[in-house]
Amino acid sequence: MAASQDELKKLVGYKAVDDHVKSGMTVGLGTGSTAAFAVERVGQLLKDGTLKDIMCIPTSVRTKEQAEELGIPLCTLNERSELDVAIDGADEVDPSLFLVKGGGGALLREKMVEIMAKKFIVIVDESKLCKALGPGFPLPVEITPFCHEHTMRVVGSLPALKGCKPVLRMGSSATNKPDGDEIAISDNGNYLVDLHFDTPIADTAAAAEQLKNTVGVVDHGLFVGMTYQVVVAGTDGIRVAGT
Ligand code: A5P
Repeated sequence: MAASQDELKKLVGYKAVDDHVKSGMTVGLGTGSTAAFAVERVGQLLKDGTLKDIMCIPTSVRTKEQAEELGIPLCTLNERSELDVAIDGADEVDPSLFLVKGGGGALLREKMVEIMAKKFIVIVDESKLCKALGPGFPLPVEITPFCHEHTMRVVGSLPALKGCKPVLRMGSSATNKPDGDEIAISDNGNYLVDLHFDTPIADTAAAAEQLKNTVGVVDHGLFVGMTYQVVVAGTDGIRVAGT
């Protein structure tokens, strides 16, 4: 019988921890249904004594709560700015290992933590692989609440994002499915906008730069040039892309 998507997520979550997390390390803990399996594995290995003296930095309130329940020692970037490794899921991965992240609303903390890791390990099932970023999954952008409609118009008119349709996230910040009448609020007190594309983003680096240079945008879900390795689970087993 073929493995379920949850079983694939668990396989890559556990493998990434087993391969890359060693005693004494500082570890970034990602956010989402795949990253939750990696957090679970860290908790198991700490409990059975395989891992000792590690310190972890969570990328969301949800992950912090899961890690606390498992008794994982936690700190923030204020205490430790250098991480040995960070492990997280992604919403889309392209052939250059550029990512779309933030479907779960945690893109700002994820990027702040994962950019400081010597190795950023991405864990996905093969449904997340794509030829080009854009049409397969809306690109999340975190913006300030102040004059958000104005910022959404500015973002929608950026040359490298031509043709995108910005949609304000409603309901829970943890999903881009409209599931409520209230505007979704990120862990940082900001709004989230999902950019819908009919065609691929032609120049991902230019899109990332233009978004980052837009006043009112806090950060965006394009993770460009950050990935060390992608661990992919599919029906044929697990494979690794990158270094
Ligand atoms: C959280 O904000 C996201 O970046 C997640 O890491 C990403 O959406 C992958 O989540 P899943 O593993 O739940 O698909």
